[in-house]
Amino acid sequence: MSALGSRLEPLVYDLSRPGRSGAPLPEPDVPHAELPSDLLREELGLPEITQLDAVRHFQRLSQLNHSIDTGFYPLGSCTMKYNPRINEDAARLPGFLHAHPLQEANTVQGSLALMYELQEWLKEIGGFAGVSLQPAAGAHGELTGILMMRAYHLARGDMARHKILIPDSAHGTNPASTTMSGLEVIELPSDGRGNVDVKALRAECGEDVVGLMITNPNTLGLFEEHIEEVVQLTRDCGGLIYGDGANMNALTGVIRPGDFGFDVMHYNLHKTFSTPHGGGGPGSGPVGVSERMADYLPSPIVAIIEEGDEKEPPLYGFAAPPKTIGRMKAFNGQFGVLVRAYAYIRIHGAAGLRANAEHAVLNANYLLSKVRAEYHLPFERACLHEFVVEGRWRGAPDVHALDVSKRLMDFGFHPPTNYFPLIVHEALMIEPTETESRETLDAFADALLQIAATARDNPEELRGAPHTTPVARMDEVRAARQLVLCCRPKFLSEPAQAPYT
Ligand SMILES: Cc1ncc(COP(=O)(O)O)c(C=O)c1O
Repeated sequence: MSALGSRLEPLVYDLSRPGRSGAPLPEPDVPHAELPSDLLREELGLPEITQLDAVRHFQRLSQLNHSIDTGFYPLGSCTMKYNPRINEDAARLPGFLHAHPLQEANTVQGSLALMYELQEWLKEIGGFAGVSLQPAAGAHGELTGILMMRAYHLARGDMARHKILIPDSAHGTNPASTTMSGLEVIELPSDGRGNVDVKALRAECGEDVVGLMITNPNTLGLFEEHIEEVVQLTRDCGGLIYGDGANMNALTGVIRPGDFGFDVMHYNLHKTFSTPHGGGGPGSGPVGVSERMADYLPSPIVAIIEEGDEKEPPLYGFAAPPKTIGRMKAFNGQFGVLVRAYAYIRIHGAAGLRANAEHAVLNANYLLSKVRAEYHLPFERACLHEFVVEGRWRGAPDVHALDVSKRLMDFGFHPPTNYFPLIVHEALMIEPTETESRETLDAFADALLQIAATARDNPEELRGAPHTTPVARMDEVRAARQLVLCCRPKFLSEPAQAPYT
């Protein structure tokens, strides 16, 4: 077993002392009922602990997690930006918080107005003719978009199309959602500058292509230099263009994907428009569509049922697009995330959103300029909102990107994304976002430079990292597959079961 035992804080059971209590329970104010004896147990083995000890215990546990509120979180492709607290206040307004999804539309006009306006703003930001707020996350938006693309071709009687073209730099969800829709993934290589290879695209374009799924800027943080030609080639063979809009933090307010000819694009509201999303959720992945795809949007969408005038606001309700692919999500999507995104967009306004994108790009290029002498950049170009470098050095054959990431934890930073995109060896994908100060970026760059020096001088120090965290290096595959969810982990008494090395 590793240093696990010595570094972990005591468990609540270790703090338990017989007879201690956190809160006196009142006498029951209902008659005692006869309970089935097999449900009644004398010994539940619950911890006996004072309120103060319990508070301290949980405070301590909460501080073991890294979060955007406690430190820099440059997890590439995830846009871990600061989430303004006012968004949380908005999401907690009683009218939003207590609305029930089965309420009649005339009793939730405020919520519907918010959804309608958000649809309109997302249309404007992306250059689209229609928007659905239903998808629950980016990957769900992808599936929604692909099902719409398939429905579009089938409705025209074009039954032979079954391929989606996807660059090899794409996020894993792109091929996954395509496969889930029953279509075939055709991988396109990247060229020497990190763009999708136009020659390979031309070779694949044909009458069996449903469309292209492309991320711009791509997951290398690079703007697709031939985007117009790529769109034209795909259109010439009858294909549609799906845009993965997870990287809109680089473009918002600057350019509109709909204007390049994208037919469908999902937004990651939980990235571009804030919302805390570390640790798995919640997310929201609305899709925007071009004119020719608008009839296929998931149903229902929020619509104005009766126009308003100077005295009366409009009456909002639900509408079904004529060739809808149907419902993709229960009720009305992730409503709490929609409220946060609405607040974020409204507070920033058009100029603020553009400034955010510009600062995200500036911060990434600033950081890159500070570290590029020590970290190999596979594609020698200026980046947009993130960049990918290699975590390996000629003079240090035993050091890997993972060692760099683990050592960064000792400096108090969350590691960057590792080993993605797959086309870069020992990839470290770094996305600082616009919300970080120059001092933070300088401190992170200094840490990366120190680590590069250590890689050559003292590689063992990196290979043993992290040295300061409660749990040392884990067997990450086992830890994910054999989650220990109980509060009295078995592995503490049985070291052989530990998902740690
Ligand atoms: C480029 C890209 N596409 C798609 C996704 C999927 O988004 P989600 O995690 O919301 O499903 C991500 C998520 O990190 C991403 O970075």
